[in-house]
Amino acid sequence: MAGFTKYNHFLPSKVRDRALENRLTVFTGPLEWRTTGKELTMKFGYFDDQSREYVITQPDTPLPWINYLGCEAYFGIISNTAGGYSFYRDARLRRLTRYRYNNVPFDFGGRYIYLRDQESGKFWSPSWQPTRHELTNYSCRHGMGYTSIGSTANGIEAETRYFVPLGENLEIWQLTVTNRRDTPAKINAFSSIEFCLWDAQDDATNFQRNFNTGQVEVEDGVIYHKTEYRERRNHFAYFACSEKLAGFETQRESFLGRYRSWDSPAAVEAGQLGNSIAHGWSPMGAHQVNIELEPGETKQIVFLLGYHENPVAEKFDPPGSQIINKKTVKPVIAKYLDAKNADAAFDELRQYWQSLLGIFQVNSPDAHTNRMVNIWNAYQCMATFNMSRSASFYESGIGRGLGFRDSNQDLLGFVHMAPARARERILDLAATQLPTGGAYHQYQPLTKRGNNDIGGGFNDDPHWHIIGVSAYLKETGDWSILHEPVQYDNEPGSEQPLYEHLQRSFNYTLSRLGPHGLPLIGRADWNDCLNLNCFSDTPGQSFQTTTNKEGKVAESVFIAGLFVHSGRELAAIASRCGLTEEAEKYLTESAKMESVILEHGWDGAWFLRAYNDFGGKIGSKECEEGKIFIESNGYCTLAGIGLDDGKAASALAAVNEQLATKHGIVVQQPAFTHYYIEMGEISSYPPGYKENAGIFCHVNPWIMIGETRIGHGDLAHDYYSRINPSAREEISDLHRCEPYVYAQMIAGKDAPDFGEAKNSWLTGTAAWNYYAIVQWILGIRTTLDGLQINPVVPKNWPGFTATRLYRGVTYNITIERQGEGNAIALTVDGKLIEGNVVTPPTDGSKEVTVKGILS
Ligand code: GLC
Ligand code: GLC
Repeated sequence: MAGFTKYNHFLPSKVRDRALENRLTVFTGPLEWRTTGKELTMKFGYFDDQSREYVITQPDTPLPWINYLGCEAYFGIISNTAGGYSFYRDARLRRLTRYRYNNVPFDFGGRYIYLRDQESGKFWSPSWQPTRHELTNYSCRHGMGYTSIGSTANGIEAETRYFVPLGENLEIWQLTVTNRRDTPAKINAFSSIEFCLWDAQDDATNFQRNFNTGQVEVEDGVIYHKTEYRERRNHFAYFACSEKLAGFETQRESFLGRYRSWDSPAAVEAGQLGNSIAHGWSPMGAHQVNIELEPGETKQIVFLLGYHENPVAEKFDPPGSQIINKKTVKPVIAKYLDAKNADAAFDELRQYWQSLLGIFQVNSPDAHTNRMVNIWNAYQCMATFNMSRSASFYESGIGRGLGFRDSNQDLLGFVHMAPARARERILDLAATQLPTGGAYHQYQPLTKRGNNDIGGGFNDDPHWHIIGVSAYLKETGDWSILHEPVQYDNEPGSEQPLYEHLQRSFNYTLSRLGPHGLPLIGRADWNDCLNLNCFSDTPGQSFQTTTNKEGKVAESVFIAGLFVHSGRELAAIASRCGLTEEAEKYLTESAKMESVILEHGWDGAWFLRAYNDFGGKIGSKECEEGKIFIESNGYCTLAGIGLDDGKAASALAAVNEQLATKHGIVVQQPAFTHYYIEMGEISSYPPGYKENAGIFCHVNPWIMIGETRIGHGDLAHDYYSRINPSAREEISDLHRCEPYVYAQMIAGKDAPDFGEAKNSWLTGTAAWNYYAIVQWILGIRTTLDGLQINPVVPKNWPGFTATRLYRGVTYNITIERQGEGNAIALTVDGKLIEGNVVTPPTDGSKEVTVKGILS
């Protein structure tokens, strides 16, 4: 309990009081909830919707609550205590700073500032970490692309604003220090970061080499990190400060002292940095600035951390030397060290987000819906688009590149905000497609090449490409993309129009049908962990990459539903291109598949999930465990299968009875209680976690969309609310992840910590929930022909308003409820229209008023 009294004021009061009584070590969160059987209601901050910020008021959140800096090429992850790291484009191959995983919630390695009172010798970090001293008025404001962390200690108020200016490969830290004492103060301010030797994986493993390679230069107070620049790299990092330095460090040991850590660096304690120059070991950057402040006086210090490349032939200055050529970097540094320019860049960033988020705004009777749709969910869609699943506090940045399936789905939530970047992403993805129509499961963002280590053979992958391209066409109407020549497997000479890639995606499945005429599953389908051909019996073997059986038997009903959906989307595209015969073919094949599903994929009351390698059913009433799954029931109903004959309604009712819980809908039931070699990774997870009956938030929206298709606005929105992070804010000590973004998973009812979220930020949940609420529940839906308005909202909503900027036209939409149903009558600029699709104005007007009456 050392440290308990020191930090206790940050603990939730209930927990603290009890702990004080019992003098026990305290844990917040699920453990507490589990032992008392009560749900705690506890928040660690609040939403400031006006400023589009989440304000954290207590630093020891259950887990690090993070934000992303940067939205183009330079990125940073930053926690509420200034932890996290930075990278250029690729979190594995171009890592600028170090971070230590496996310590969560102890979040460690970051952009740390230390302040030290010269007279008393007391030092502390205004962001709480890494010193964890007592602070007053701590707050961390996570905003759109920036984070500000501040507090007061020893009468000194300090706040640091971190952000990445648009169009630049650098981050700015603006530190403002104010003297709140009534006497003058003499303060030492220190900055610090630890450089990573570029390849984050190698940096964390290859010490026999790395302890010898580190190199830096210090010139005019700027610390340049140039490990390996002397040989094959033409890029370096820099860490600069706006003020005259009283010292610097570049060697970690000199800064920390032997056997010390970041919570009490020897040089900070001593109040003097030692001007070390790193040779090998662990290069770092620290600046020291001494400031004197009159009572009430404020000073600002700007720090820059950046990445820069030189042309290979111009690496050195003078040529032939080993000194970095700084000609092109110096002006950039000078520009942003000027606080005026930094402020201007910050304003520009605010404007940028203002305009992106302005593309769709809703005002509904539900504050959580508004907040997520208008601010945080859209913002999270941008992060998932940029990062895919590569870099968060749960994705180490060294494990995964950009997923083919994931990135295509991410487009659904992002395409309206940055169509040009969506276009580029679509073409990059298509270029990694294999000539068979199949796909590499992942590609590296830096090289844009398919990742051979992971390979392919996930038989759902190609269809997501059709879904992604279709979303792009519906948003933009940019048909030219279909004619873009794109390589297969990045092979020069293999270029074919994008449209052909889509054809191959579709045909991929037609040539891989199983005994019932359903699609063969291959390595896995959407559920990476349903590995029906793997039969792995070796510990540690990767289910994702181990050699599979040929797999001529195991079939996926989920892929079948996806095929029906993608076939219809492709048919619509083909017919708009005048390819009537082809469109017919896609429709015929989709219809055929639909009847195969109804014949062999229907279990009596819900859709089967799959057939295993022995031809046995998965997701059937006949199974002992895993009787019913969310994916096939979600996707088939989303695709409109069984709408006419009550099968969709029956499947959704079964999901409601057997899979829905108060914290969301679980993947399947009953959970697998032991390992099934013929099922693979799904049964490797303890019951209630991840794909083994966890609440996988990504797939919940499929059920929501299904419910809208049968007209159940109440239930659709209820499901939406169960996993809406803002609506779960009140139970933050149970939920534990950030209340402003979705997590991949919430522990299911079979787990001891039912309701606890994990793996926040990078998840298909962002795009799918955004898509479900905006396009299906609010019903403001893009189509190839125009904007469809078809809300299926709760009965007790009197209506809502929304604005949508679509293909250059602003639609001001007002929906009014006059009856309990979902029938809609639309007037456009005062004129009643037929149907519910608003086509673009023909008179060139840029603003349209749409009024819908629900009855
Ligand atoms: C992860 C993967 C995604 C997969 C899902 C279910 O979210 O990124 O591709 O579909 O898990 O296994
Ligand atoms: C594991 C996870 C799954 C994820 C996959 C990605 O299988 O359980 O959720 O999609 O890894 O590689």
